[in-house]
Amino acid sequence: MSKARVLTGITTTGTPHLGNYVGAIRPAIEASQNQDVQSFYFLADFHALIKCHDPEQVHRSTTEIAATWLALGLDPEKVVFYRQSDIPEIPELCWMLNCMAAKGLMNRAHAYKAAVAANEEAGEDTDFGVTMGLYSYPVLMAADILMFNATQVPVGKDQIQHVEMARDIAGRFNHHYGEHFVMPEAVVDDKVAVLQGLDGRKMSKSYGNTIPLFLTEKQLKKHINKIKTNLLEPGDPKDPDTSTVFQVWQAFATEQQTADMRQAFLDGIAWGEAKKQLFELVNEELREARERYQELLANPKHMEELLQMGAEKARSYSAPLLQACREAVGIRPLTK
Ligand code: TRP
Repeated sequence: MSKARVLTGITTTGTPHLGNYVGAIRPAIEASQNQDVQSFYFLADFHALIKCHDPEQVHRSTTEIAATWLALGLDPEKVVFYRQSDIPEIPELCWMLNCMAAKGLMNRAHAYKAAVAANEEAGEDTDFGVTMGLYSYPVLMAADILMFNATQVPVGKDQIQHVEMARDIAGRFNHHYGEHFVMPEAVVDDKVAVLQGLDGRKMSKSYGNTIPLFLTEKQLKKHINKIKTNLLEPGDPKDPDTSTVFQVWQAFATEQQTADMRQAFLDGIAWGEAKKQLFELVNEELREARERYQELLANPKHMEELLQMGAEKARSYSAPLLQACREAVGIRPLTK
C-alpha cells in the first residue's frame, strides 16, 4: 500500500507569532515526524502576492518563515520542503485547472465573498480592490494540492472549503481527461489550542495583539508583561479559566505544571510572579530554536541550498504528472 501523502502550504506573509506556533507550526512539525506518511511542506510565495504587494516584505517573510520551520525542527531530509515558485509545473497546472474550474464555484469562495460584502457595506463597487489573484486563489491552491496527489491536507477551518473546491476541480478534470488526480481530504485538528493574545482576544496579526515567536529574551519578557490582567492583589485568589496568562501557560506546560499553576492561581499568586514564571517556561521552550533561527538567517545561502534540494525532490513528482496532463489535454509535439 502506498503511504498517505500529507501536504501543507505556508503563505509567506507576516512574522510568525506564538499563536501560529501553538496552533499550526508545532503540531505540523510533530506530524512530519510520523514515519507512516510522506510529507510535503511548501512556502506558498505565489499566494503571498495576493495579499502583499511590497517586494521587500515578500522576500523577507519568505526567508523568515523558511528559517522558522527549519529552526523548529522540520527535517528537510525527511520531508519534501520546497518553495512554490521553484516548481514551474504548479502555475502551468493551475492554468489547466482554471480551464476546468467553474466561475460559479469561485463566486462562492469565502475570501472573495468577504471582500464583496465589505465593499457593499462601504457603499463601494462590489469588485473594488478585488484582483484576479484573490478571486481565483482556490484554483492555485488546487494546483498545489493536486500536483502532488496529496491524500490529506491539514488545514484550519477557514480552508476546508478550498480543499473541497480542489476535489470538485479534480473530479471535473478526471471526468473529462481520464484519472490523473487523487481526491484530497481536508484534515482539521480540533484539539490544537487557539491562543489568546495580549488583550485576551484570539492572538492574531489583524488584532495587533501578538507575541512574535522569535524575540530577544528582553523583548519576550516585555511582551509577556503586557498581557492584560485585572487588579487583583497578591494573595487574592485568581480565576485561571478567564486568564490569558494561564491560557498561554497551558499551551506550553506539561499536565503537572498546568495543575500546579492552577493551584497557584487559586492560592493567589501575584500577577508579576505568574508572568515571570510564564516567561521562563516559554523562553525555555524556544531558546534553542531561537539560536538556530538566528544562525539560519545569518546564512541564507545554506537555506537556499536546502530549498533547491527540496525543489529537486518535488519536481521528481510534479514533472511526470504535468507531462501526463499536457498529453491528456492535447498539448504535445506535432509529431506525436
Ligand atoms: N491558503 C492557505 C492558507 O492561507 C495556504 C496554502 C496555499 C495551502 N496552498 C495550499 C494550504 C495548499 C494547504 C494546501 O493558510
